[in-house]
Amino acid sequence: MKELKDTETMKAITLNGFGGTENLVLSELPKPVVGESDVLVLVKAISINPVDAKTRKGNALATRLEQEKPLILGWDIAGMIAETGSAVKKLKVGDEVFGMVNFPGHGKAYAEYVSATEGHLVKKPANISFEEAAAGTLAALTAWQGLVHHASIKSGDRVLIHGASGGVGHFAVQIAKEQGAYVIGTSSAKNKDFVLSMGADEHVDYKAQPFESVVKKMDWVFDTIGGDYIDRSLEVLKPGGTIISIVSGMNDDVTEKANARGVIGKRMLVQSSGMDMQALADRFGDGRLKAHVDKVFPLVRMGDAHTQVESGHTVGKLIIEV
Ligand SMILES: NC(=O)c1ccc[n+]([C@@H]2O[C@H](COP(=O)([O-])OP(=O)(O)OC[C@H]3O[C@@H](n4cnc5c(N)ncnc54)[C@H](OP(=O)(O)O)[C@@H]3O)[C@@H](O)[C@H]2O)c1
Repeated sequence: MKELKDTETMKAITLNGFGGTENLVLSELPKPVVGESDVLVLVKAISINPVDAKTRKGNALATRLEQEKPLILGWDIAGMIAETGSAVKKLKVGDEVFGMVNFPGHGKAYAEYVSATEGHLVKKPANISFEEAAAGTLAALTAWQGLVHHASIKSGDRVLIHGASGGVGHFAVQIAKEQGAYVIGTSSAKNKDFVLSMGADEHVDYKAQPFESVVKKMDWVFDTIGGDYIDRSLEVLKPGGTIISIVSGMNDDVTEKANARGVIGKRMLVQSSGMDMQALADRFGDGRLKAHVDKVFPLVRMGDAHTQVESGHTVGKLIIEV
C-alpha cells in the first residue's frame, strides 16, 4: 500500500473528450487545493459504476460536466485523510474514510488525491477493506435512498428487485431483507446462488421465462434495468403498489405509466449524503451489510474496468486499486 507522499503532483485519469475508453488518459496533475470545509484524501480504492461509462460516452452527466477542464470522472472513494481545511470538525489527518463525493457534480475520483466536502465522507469501519469500502458508496447509497427514503417497506411486504446480482441490486436485496421484506430477485441462472446468498427468498431467472409469468402481487418493485422492465413490472404490482425505477433518468415515464394502471411510479437520482453514508457504515461495521467485490483493476487499466461495467453483467462491484 502507498504511504502519504509529499509532492505537489499526482496521477489521475482524465477524460480527453467524450467517446471510447481510449479517451481515458493517465495524466500528471497538480494535487487538489483543499477548501475550508474540505479534506484531502489519499485514495486507496475507487469504485466504478455504469454512470461512469455512460458519462464517458457523452450521456448521463456529460452535459453537466462538459465545461470542466480537466474532466476527471468517478465519485466513489475509500482512502486516508492527508490534509484538512480550517473549518473541518469531525475528520482528522490519518482517518480512514469512504464516501460518494459530490454526486451528481464533478467528483474527480479517478486520482491519487481527491478533495472532498467533509460531509460526504464517513469513517471506514475497521473490519472492511478499502476495496469493500469503495464498493459500498454510490451503489449502496442508491439502494439505501431508494428503499428507505423513497419507499416505506413494512415487515412482510413483497419486494421484487431487478438486477439483484448487480452493484445496486446486491445491496438492495440485503437492505430490503433487513426491513423484514419477502424478497424476490431477478438475474440469470449463473447468479442464482449469489442472489440467494445475499438473503433473497426467491430467485427468478429472467432468461428462462418472463418474470411477470411467475411473479405476482408485489408491494414494491425496485427496478435497476429499465426499458420494457418498467411496463412489465407494473403488471406484477398489487393495486396501490409502487415501482421505484433508478434508470428512468429525469423523464416522467414511470410515473405516468404507473398512474394509468392504478399503481405508483417513482424515479430517483442518488445524492451525496454523509448521514446516509453513516447508516451504511454502521451496517458494514456490524455485518448487516456486505459489499461483494467482483474484480480489482490497477489505475492504469481504467479502460478495461469501463469495458467490464458496460457489459451489464458485473456481479457486485468493480474496484480500482490506487
Ligand atoms: N438513478 C440513480 O441514482 C442510479 C444509481 C445507480 C445506478 N443507476 C443505474 O442503474 C443501473 C444498474 O446499476 P448497477 O450498478 O446495479 O449495474 P450493474 O452492476 O452493471 O448490474 C449488473 C447486473 O444486472 C443483471 N442483469 C443484467 N440484465 C438483466 C436483466 N435483463 N434482468 C435482470 N438482471 C439483469 C446482471 O446479472 P446477469 O449477468 O445474471 O444477467 C448483473 O449482475 C444502471 O443503468 C445505472 O446507471 C442509477
